[in-house]
Amino acid sequence: MQSLFVAFLFLLSLTIVGAKKKNELDDLENLLENIDQESKDDKKPVNREEVKNPCEDHACGWGKECVVDKKSNPTCECISKCPELDGDPMDKVCSNSNETFASLCDLYRERCLCKKGSKQCEKKAHAKVHLEYLGECKQLQECTDDLMAQFPERMADWLFQVMRELKKRRELHKLEWEELLQEAEQDDEKKHVYPVIWKFCDLDTKPHDKAVSHHELIPITAPVIPMESCIKPFLEGCDANNDGNISIKEWGKCLGLKDGEIQERC
Ligand SMILES: *[C@@H]1O[C@H](CO)[C@@H](O)[C@H](O)[C@H]1NC(C)=O
Ligand SMILES: *[C@@H]1O[C@H](CO)[C@@H](O)[C@H](O)[C@H]1NC(C)=O
Repeated sequence: MQSLFVAFLFLLSLTIVGAKKKNELDDLENLLENIDQESKDDKKPVNREEVKNPCEDHACGWGKECVVDKKSNPTCECISKCPELDGDPMDKVCSNSNETFASLCDLYRERCLCKKGSKQCEKKAHAKVHLEYLGECKQLQECTDDLMAQFPERMADWLFQVMRELKKRRELHKLEWEELLQEAEQDDEKKHVYPVIWKFCDLDTKPHDKAVSHHELIPITAPVIPMESCIKPFLEGCDANNDGNISIKEWGKCLGLKDGEIQERC
């Protein structure tokens, strides 16, 4: 619980410090739906000329940018140059192939270049690269059977703490969750039930389809993996029927809830 909670506080503090970091972390969530497709629901501030820039309402996925083509249509192309960095070691990211990239932008730019078969692509296999965790790749602590056995309880407890912290900051965004948390605080039996269900709803947003997919898990695992080597194997194990998504039933069971305690609330 300790290191999970520390990781969470760290993430919160990042969100509060520098606006650049905040954008990156907000984008981490958008990344899920934007990686491979273009979406039009985020607005990107572009220049404010009198003639409306066709790129204005045209959002591109991570590693991509909007360019106006000859027919004045907006198109998404791989980003030509990622922003300059100030040398913060936490800008670096580690990919699922255990390779360090200079930043999230560089990782998804490379993925884009490789998908499009560009000459600038460094390795063909990078067409499928994605974020594993924040920071440089390193030797992770092994997830032993003992650590794994303690993990569900540690994680449920962590979610309880996260929910409390968010309530303090008035960032739970829904009165219903605040009330349920209050119930959880007063009843030890229920302590873990609502936080576990809340997190499921929080993760299942892109798309909201009552199932948490691999990509929807990235925002919860990426900041935590360096400190908690069990989180990934643990969550992978939650997909009991191996269909690539975790349902609320699988999620609840996996985090130690009893059958009667698992409810759909999102
Ligand atoms: C990933 O890379 C780091 C740093 O190069 C290395 O120490 C570690 O052993 C690698 N992990 C795996 C699973 O290969
Ligand atoms: C589950 O995963 C598959 C493929 O990974 C996807 O097509 C499907 O929409 C997902 N959602 C549900 C609710 O099955």
